[in-house]
Amino acid sequence: MPKLSITDLSLKDKKVLMRVDFNVPMDAEGIITDDTRIRATLPSIKYVLDHGGSLILMSHLGRPDGKYYSKLSLRPCANRLSQLLGRNVIFAPDCVRADIGEVVKTFRPGHIMLLENLRFHRAEEFPDEDKTFAEKLSKYGDVYVNDAFGTAHRSHSSTTSVAKYFPGKAAAGFLLEKEIKFLGDTLKKPKRPFCAIVGGSKISSKCGVIEALLKKADIVMIGGGMAYTFFKAQGFPIGNSIHEDEFIEIAKELIQSSGNGRGRLMLPSDIVVAKEIKVGAPMQVVKAGGAIPDGFEGVDIGPETVKAFSDALRSAATVFWNGPLGVFEIPAFAKGTNEIAHMLAKLSATTIVGGGDLLAAVQAAGIADKLTHLSTGGGATLEYIEYGTLPGIEALSDKS
Ligand code: 3PG
Repeated sequence: MPKLSITDLSLKDKKVLMRVDFNVPMDAEGIITDDTRIRATLPSIKYVLDHGGSLILMSHLGRPDGKYYSKLSLRPCANRLSQLLGRNVIFAPDCVRADIGEVVKTFRPGHIMLLENLRFHRAEEFPDEDKTFAEKLSKYGDVYVNDAFGTAHRSHSSTTSVAKYFPGKAAAGFLLEKEIKFLGDTLKKPKRPFCAIVGGSKISSKCGVIEALLKKADIVMIGGGMAYTFFKAQGFPIGNSIHEDEFIEIAKELIQSSGNGRGRLMLPSDIVVAKEIKVGAPMQVVKAGGAIPDGFEGVDIGPETVKAFSDALRSAATVFWNGPLGVFEIPAFAKGTNEIAHMLAKLSATTIVGGGDLLAAVQAAGIADKLTHLSTGGGATLEYIEYGTLPGIEALSDKS
């Protein structure tokens, strides 16, 4: 059932309680190093303001586990949002203190407040331990909008419990809708050939999505640290490479299921190995399955693999990519990720790229604006592909 949209709500003179995902990277001085997630919510925020509403924004930052940490304060996000909007954003030093409600009562159209980090309260992540937390949040708004796609896989007070207090008035924001459009509609009925690329260091966090993608895609290419668990499952030497022994059986099953009336798994045929994960470390290219020099570990896909992946991608009509293909933070080990990113930029296919690390890699490669959709979700993107929906989406009102 389609969900209510922000455009279905009457916003004039209404206080809009909006869940956003301002879980952005910050350096040691609290300077935001990538504000993509803040910018991504601007369309919904501006829409509310343009339609005569006021806003009470709520988000988490990091995983403070129910305790206050000044380093995880959302104050820098309020300042950044204020710069981006060119108007004052009030920062509330807590999210449920009684005096905040008093300030909200005085709100007029155009007013905006960002509440302090929801996860400073344990009840955010454990709604059943204190149901009054969601209720207190709900009192701030006449209507509720969820635009926090990145957190929609969490059943938390601000993503699911609070929506119950807004029957018929809990709607999806533009960012949430855009993610559903690309990850849901586009990938459910992809134009073919549909190629998926899955990288990143751990197979444990991605076996579900690989399994789901093998059912949808024509080819699933594997790179990054997780490739070495697949190599070990095949009995190949992996030297000192990262791997997860507990997932070898799952890797074997995935290899066996490849092509069985479903997508084909494509593993790297060569890899770059290095003595250390360090700038200037000795490195060389070896065949997958071939000997690895003593003390070396895998750090990137090799040139033969880049060519094989590129050849397969050339005819693709849809591409989904999650996770870098090597240790891209070190320029010498970023070649595979960069070359595949540049390949994607040349395609006329629908290209959907997700995952914080990979977004940083495609931004660094300078091709982000050549891609069709950059998903703001990490775990949310993977879970949406795996399960086809998320708790934060399900909690919203149905479009009647
Ligand atoms: C993310 O960065 O993936 C989201 O903000 C969710 O964060 P979490 O994994 O800490 O719930």
